[in-house]
Amino acid sequence: MMTNWKEEFIQLFAGTKEDIRIFFAPGRVNFIGEHTDYNGGHVLPCALEIGTYALVRKTANPFIRFYSKNFPETGIITVAYDDLSYQDKHGWANYPKGVIAAFQSFCPIETGLDILYYGMIPNGAGLSSSASIELVTAVMLNELFAQHLDMLELVKLSQKVENEYVGVNCGIMDQFAVGMGKRNYAMLLNCQTLECRYIPVAMNDCSIVIANTNKKRGLAASVYNERRATCEAALAKLQKHINIASLGDLTSEQLEKYKHLLSPLEQKRARHAVTENERTIEAAAALEKGDLLCFGELMKQSHISLRDDYEVTGEELDTLVEAAWKHEGTIGARMTGAGFGGCTVNIVKDAHIPDFIERVGKEYAEKIGYEASFYVVKIGDGAREITETKEMSA
Ligand code: GLA
Repeated sequence: MMTNWKEEFIQLFAGTKEDIRIFFAPGRVNFIGEHTDYNGGHVLPCALEIGTYALVRKTANPFIRFYSKNFPETGIITVAYDDLSYQDKHGWANYPKGVIAAFQSFCPIETGLDILYYGMIPNGAGLSSSASIELVTAVMLNELFAQHLDMLELVKLSQKVENEYVGVNCGIMDQFAVGMGKRNYAMLLNCQTLECRYIPVAMNDCSIVIANTNKKRGLAASVYNERRATCEAALAKLQKHINIASLGDLTSEQLEKYKHLLSPLEQKRARHAVTENERTIEAAAALEKGDLLCFGELMKQSHISLRDDYEVTGEELDTLVEAAWKHEGTIGARMTGAGFGGCTVNIVKDAHIPDFIERVGKEYAEKIGYEASFYVVKIGDGAREITETKEMSA
């Protein structure tokens, strides 16, 4: 398959195959710890085997050319390497442009590049297709221009691009999981200290099933920023009375004691941030002990809290998750990612997966009026250069 992509590359950009290099960055799924990263709490994501591929070559041209097999309608996008400003008309290509611009600030890139992208992750589904294209580009530039930045620096650079160049005020979870993922491990990440513990995921006779609501997400970014602002307002009020750096430093007991300082809405949002952080730490311990039943119950509590206190689920996610909870093959099910649509993450007994997909899918289509999509996924490694003979999960 990669060989065909190289041929496609040559057809698009001409030249020969010899000097093409290939990079890969995964998507991610978060098991638990949602809307906790920017609140200084813990998250428990893993990288996936599916992700974004990038084929690249240096050229003698004064411009950079981008093409995505996912967006053939935009054709080849050509930009001068000294004009990498954000432009609406460049759509998806703004992500890699932003990463190249960030590199330019410490490493003058004065050579042309031809880049062909191919993403296996459904776009905008909450599986971090944007962090994936950022990291695949960051790792690529790091190697091509021998910058020797470590992965954590590439992760932080990519998050900065998302925050400042793309303008989405996300936390660090996605870029961290995509960059630092490890096959068969989940990552318990303290988003305040960036201390990370790798926890082996022994699924035994179960698998991870991702279900996509296929809902078009409209106002997600503004609602996301609003949740973030409410939590920040709650924190500022609490900080006048308790010495905490973030809501991640707070226990449920402390919040109960001080909640009168907050508006009813701030109380709900803060309660989610605080209890979700506690659940995440507990879930990591359950995973370490191999107690999947306890893990599944915590996933359920997480969804309920996201539904009732944080209010980021919506009918589509609730329908998928509630149908999954009813199925006898389900160990755990919840929404994953930012919410408002996107995907659910499910742990399902292998023997039940076909029936799970059929019944949950049917209930969803009947209630919502269109189909959900299902993917059985495996936990993969973080962003890296690959060769075409090995590591082809496409
Ligand atoms: C999005 C953001 C992450 C995180 C999640 C919610 O995926 O990019 O930083 O906040 O939402 O947990």
